[in-house]
Amino acid sequence: MTAKQDKLATLFKQATIIPVLAIDRLEDAVPLAKALVAGGVRVLEVTLRTEVAIPAAKAIMADVPEAIVGIGTILNAADLARAETLGAKFGISPGATPELLKAAAASALPFAPGIATASDLMQALAHGFDLVKFFPAESSGGIKALRALAGPFPDVRFCPTGGIGEANAAAWLSEPNVVAVGGSWLCPAADIRSANWAGISAICRRTMNSLKPA
Ligand code: 3PG
Repeated sequence: MTAKQDKLATLFKQATIIPVLAIDRLEDAVPLAKALVAGGVRVLEVTLRTEVAIPAAKAIMADVPEAIVGIGTILNAADLARAETLGAKFGISPGATPELLKAAAASALPFAPGIATASDLMQALAHGFDLVKFFPAESSGGIKALRALAGPFPDVRFCPTGGIGEANAAAWLSEPNVVAVGGSWLCPAADIRSANWAGISAICRRTMNSLKPA
């Protein structure tokens, strides 16, 4: 692993679960981040899926110092540059293009490209990325697919997302090649809309507790 991938693996391992945030209203950013941190979840992926994503990430960085903010849904080199300029701690993408992999390899930003197949993974490895997001995890074959990938790629570490929730997070995390899991279940859109911050903290706590050995 390169030093920056190593840093990312350590961060993801400590995080264990990473919420995938789509923030529609800027005013929700800080209370949402505080609710996640209160629930024991500090590493946050703010996706570039909404118009206010960048100001939302900035607000969280300024007002919630306990949060470790990364940027998700990085689709191209320009998105990657936006994440770097912002001071994000890491970047994540749902897939990868040769352009994005090249830019990410040249950048100092710790980055996890998205892969769904062996060929995707080989492209990522060719650019030095051996910690990747497995997306969409459940519909790309689930844990069985991940185990199959461990055969030819025993040293690759994964952060699966897509279809993961309270019911299956522990199963994914018990796979030896999984460092963390991500997903939107920790912050349902309806709870964000209704400012149910206590509810979001409760989901985080419940999920964290479900991961503790009995
Ligand atoms: C992602 O970008 O990682 C996914 O949208 C999260 O998938 P989920 O909504 O099924 O958790």
